[in-house]
Amino acid sequence: MKDTGFSAASLAAQAMGWIDPVTRAVVPPIHMASTYQRDEDNGYSSGRIYARADNPSFDHAEATLAALEGGVKALIFSSGMSAASACFLALSPGDHVVAPKVMYWALRNWLATFATHWGLAVDFVDAESTDAIAAAMRPGATKIVWLETPANPTWVVSDIAAAADIAHRAGALLGVDSTVATPVLTRPLELGADIVMHSATKYLNGHSDIIAGALVGARDDAHWAKLRAIRSQLGTILGQTEAWLLMRGMRTLFPRVQWACRSAQSLAERFASHPMVAEVLYPGLGPSAGHTVAARQRKGGFGGMLSDRVKGGERAAIATAARVGLWKRATSLGGVESLIEHRASIEGPGTPCPPDLLRLSVGIEDSDDLYNDLDQALRRADNS
Ligand SMILES: Cc1ncc(COP(=O)(O)O)c(C=O)c1O
Repeated sequence: MKDTGFSAASLAAQAMGWIDPVTRAVVPPIHMASTYQRDEDNGYSSGRIYARADNPSFDHAEATLAALEGGVKALIFSSGMSAASACFLALSPGDHVVAPKVMYWALRNWLATFATHWGLAVDFVDAESTDAIAAAMRPGATKIVWLETPANPTWVVSDIAAAADIAHRAGALLGVDSTVATPVLTRPLELGADIVMHSATKYLNGHSDIIAGALVGARDDAHWAKLRAIRSQLGTILGQTEAWLLMRGMRTLFPRVQWACRSAQSLAERFASHPMVAEVLYPGLGPSAGHTVAARQRKGGFGGMLSDRVKGGERAAIATAARVGLWKRATSLGGVESLIEHRASIEGPGTPCPPDLLRLSVGIEDSDDLYNDLDQALRRADNS
């Protein structure tokens, strides 16, 4: 698949313009094989030995994602968690990590428990503050700075270019969980990041029917080889059919994300003056420091995720979620169907998530329908 000069949107729509050389099919096949024939001279001229290392069914999704992110290489994984944890397992016990206080809760818990027990020293900081990141650095010991931007579930925004500069000056890498921004809105590698991570379960796939993860690297170097080896050794590979579904989903990434952004912006603006909403958290609502950074490092919108803090606290928030019809009460995000979630009760004790917060993942339904459905739920919850 060669560089055609077409835009990322065109490359995604056509899965890199791939045509099967034998059948002329416009959709790639699924390769089910778990093993590959060895040559008579004992070599493996195909470059493939055993499917725990890789599979031709991954090639398409990996090449497309690398192109969309402007990266050199991509690896797809069995989940976002296995992709993210590979970045930390590639370090050595004793190494230091700087990570956000507000981030995807399961990864934060894994860093605070397993990774710490295994020997990493992890400092959690207010990652929307460049000063806080800089103050946490231990030059020589800090090996990776991790960002999630915008961050679950309050959508605070971190300055990727500033964090890359801080990390690199201390000899560390910058890894960015860009699940929520997607390459449609932000390309972290162009802003100086070394690794981009995705829960491909979310927008990249977009249809709430697979669990998948991905890493994209700025360089094909020794560190990248280590990440590839970790996937192969732990066997945290995606199934062949799921890889095909991921590629299918990525073909519509641009129109899905662009639609969700327009709808989320409109919902954020309308709920900001709703009598039952105390505060709307959305990077597209200015003026704020987060809005300024988001406006600088994003193109074409502020994303499909927002949160409403409900007047009346936790009880009113849970009662609201109970009364929606069109929104679906479920965790996860980035699918074509809109989801609503009382987030604090999913994250559990110690969460920085306010108890009155409803997390909204905006899908591709009609925006007025979404507003009206949540509006009636908020008003009925108030009366109950
Ligand atoms: C921002 C973010 N990062 C990582 C993950 C973990 O991904 P997965 O559920 O695919 O393992 C999630 C899942 O919700 C997420 O929202």
